[in-house]
Amino acid sequence: MTKKIVILFSGSGTNLENIIKTLHKKSFDSTTIEIAGLICNNPNAKGIEKALKYDIKTDIINHKDFSSRHEFDTKLVNKINEFKPDLVVLAGFMRILSPIFTDNIKAINLHPSILPLFKGDKAIIESWESDMKIAGISVHYVSGELDGGKIIDQLSFHKNETKTYEAYEDKIHSLEYELLPKVIINLLSKTL
Ligand code: GAR
Repeated sequence: MTKKIVILFSGSGTNLENIIKTLHKKSFDSTTIEIAGLICNNPNAKGIEKALKYDIKTDIINHKDFSSRHEFDTKLVNKINEFKPDLVVLAGFMRILSPIFTDNIKAINLHPSILPLFKGDKAIIESWESDMKIAGISVHYVSGELDGGKIIDQLSFHKNETKTYEAYEDKIHSLEYELLPKVIINLLSKTL
């Protein structure tokens, strides 16, 4: 059975590319995963160049072209629904979503901290600067509360393992590349 996903992104798109390389048109037991569409809200995102290397429909919907969050989210939801996806994946999508999105779209989000700690868009630097001895990443369902939906899975490490901020960021990203595809496979293999 083929299951379709749509990926939303805003920035450098390294998770997006990792998902394409590891999952697109690949089969896992009886489930074949197809990335039906990619949507970006930022016309200057480095990830667009990455996205265009693959033969996957890529739409840029600039949120600045809309006069309200309501209008942007309506356009986003309509575009997503054109693909009829089984699941939507937010991979570095840096927009707060209104109920127009969260009430209508089944989506998961990748977040670079051990939620519920360090919600928001500065999770990596805030967790690095905190007194916490462990750090990590989360994948959770998107809900009406920012970074507050039900946690699906997490990975962690001891901060002693990384001596510099750059190494710390790299460790976070390497865990993201490991966990997000696994979660997508697991969810799509179940009846969604
Ligand atoms: C990732 O670290 C992801 O966890 C984070 O944005 C980065 C995107 O990187 N997401 C958030 O902070 C969401 N609140 P990428 O564009 O290279 O995949």
